[in-house]
Amino acid sequence: MTGDGEIRRLALITGASGGIGADLARIMAREGHDLALVARSADKLAALALEITSMGRPPPLVIPIDLARPAAGGELAAALTAAGAQVSILVNNAGFGLNGAAVALDPAAQLEMIDLNVRLLTDLTLRFAPDIIRSRGRILNVASVASFLPGPGMAVYYATKAFVRSFSLAMSEELKASGVTVTCLCPGFTATAFQARAGIEAATMARVPTMSSLAVAHSGYRAMMAGRRLVITGFANKLGVALLPFIPDSLLLPILAGLQMKRHV
Ligand SMILES: NC(=O)c1ccc[n+]([C@@H]2O[C@H](COP(=O)([O-])OP(=O)(O)OC[C@H]3O[C@@H](n4cnc5c(N)ncnc54)[C@H](OP(=O)(O)O)[C@@H]3O)[C@@H](O)[C@H]2O)c1
Repeated sequence: MTGDGEIRRLALITGASGGIGADLARIMAREGHDLALVARSADKLAALALEITSMGRPPPLVIPIDLARPAAGGELAAALTAAGAQVSILVNNAGFGLNGAAVALDPAAQLEMIDLNVRLLTDLTLRFAPDIIRSRGRILNVASVASFLPGPGMAVYYATKAFVRSFSLAMSEELKASGVTVTCLCPGFTATAFQARAGIEAATMARVPTMSSLAVAHSGYRAMMAGRRLVITGFANKLGVALLPFIPDSLLLPILAGLQMKRHV
């Protein structure tokens, strides 16, 4: 509760310690949202909270937690309750990818990816939906252009993002009557720590068109506030997705495999 006994209504951002999530936090703080910042890196979250406070905004609620653990959703909810807070905007942004042949990559790490990218996102959406509905709030789910196609060389990652897009679009319809909007953000290559964690060589990034995390975050925030169902960032990504239905799998899959199987570290 706040000092006057009122519930503190927050925009909760997962993966707020860096990249797209941190820039979403900066934008949303500037636009007047009271925030809950969630990720594992307590030091980075504290530094961002300080930056936001020094903008003259209320100190964000900082919750350092490993979201890939099955208990994380419950622990996050308990931390919010203890702070007298409820979620009115949910930004499901935390996620990671792994580059390489699925049978060669660590199976446990790939299951962890499903736990974070899929299980946790679903858990938080369902868990906080009643509060979000009560405040006629919003949900922003970060998928990827990878959600539009199968991805040999990043097979599990692409499949997790296909889930996020499918789930987001279905939920946008299910929640429409409640006044809650669900927006699915589909970025292409974005310059963040994502590629290093995925094991993608830095040289690859130098060869592909890349957007800044700030531009992607702006695009996602605008789409969320406008209540749009889906936003693909950048002209090249929009064009690529538009052309996909015209390329047969027999052509597309070997091309992608050729590009993605070669580039991992
Ligand atoms: N960058 C791209 O090219 C790109 C393209 C399309 C889609 N995306 C998507 O955009 C989203 C944000 O990624 P990004 O590019 O901003 O990458 P990033 O800079 O690596 O940020 C990922 C965020 O997720 C958090 N995170 C990772 N594992 C976590 C865990 N187990 N528990 C809690 N938090 C965890 C990280 O914080 P900690 O490490 O502190 O936990 C970090 O804040 C992801 O869903 C990604 O799939 C990225």
